Amino acid sequence: MADREVLARELEYHEKLYAGFAQRHFPRPAVRALRRHTVERILRLTGAGPGWRVLSLGCGIGDTELLLAPHVAEVVGVDLSPAAVRQARADTERLGIRNARFEQASDAQGRFDLVMAVFFLHHLTDAALAELPRQLQERLKPGGSFYSLDPSRRRLSGAVGRLLIPGMMKRYQTPDERELEPEWTCGLFRDAGYDARVEIYDFGSSPLAGLLPGWRWGYRAARTVDDWLLKAPALRKRGSNFEIVARVAGPAA
Ligand SMILES: C[S@@+](CC[C@H](N)C(=O)[O-])C[C@H]1O[C@@H](n2cnc3c(N)ncnc32)[C@H](O)[C@@H]1O
Repeated sequence: MADREVLARELEYHEKLYAGFAQRHFPRPAVRALRRHTVERILRLTGAGPGWRVLSLGCGIGDTELLLAPHVAEVVGVDLSPAAVRQARADTERLGIRNARFEQASDAQGRFDLVMAVFFLHHLTDAALAELPRQLQERLKPGGSFYSLDPSRRRLSGAVGRLLIPGMMKRYQTPDERELEPEWTCGLFRDAGYDARVEIYDFGSSPLAGLLPGWRWGYRAARTVDDWLLKAPALRKRGSNFEIVARVAGPAA
């Protein structure tokens, strides 16, 4: 399938998503708690901190990026969707955040200490995904880090969701996105010369935040349960979302 056709479908889907639903859904308490947790994870797993320049690919309306901005020197978010970028810029202005900016693009100029991609890789075609690790070597400073978060092909929640709520699963997915195989995805980064590993992010807490976005305490309780469940290797394999944490060669930032 030509990348151009996939991009057109991605754009069409996301323009609708960012025409109101995302603006209502993402500020809900459980989703905000999930975003805060993701930011804490990014900081802890990559060591990002003051002085770091961060590029976020497929940033959407930038809600994760605006939570990250106070912890780093600069955040640049890029996204295909003009509606997403408009919202991200409006929120940056409203919150008075001075070190974040957003562009309608798939790439940015310059070099970064960290490139992050939250729920983005699984929207790329196999060919674009296979190319990405090498392309990002042009964006990362020596020793720079990459972080991604994506749904796992092995996740139990996906199998249960497809069985119980197939219509809802379809409604919140673009025609081209698919769950990814964690080790295969990590292998793309290793093959390109990165020091890369897989981490399992969650078991049931993120799907719960999506289903019951108003229930912050439910999310927090589920997150605590997840931290216990993920200690069991058999359950880790069936986790919902996985992370790639990778570093290019060179002295650490
Ligand atoms: C599932 S959304 C994730 C958005 C955001 N990171 C979040 O966590 O809410 C995937 C995003 O990737 C964007 N996207 C898809 N393909 C893209 C591409 N080739 N270049 C830039 N953005 C792209 C979409 O517009 C969408 O905002």
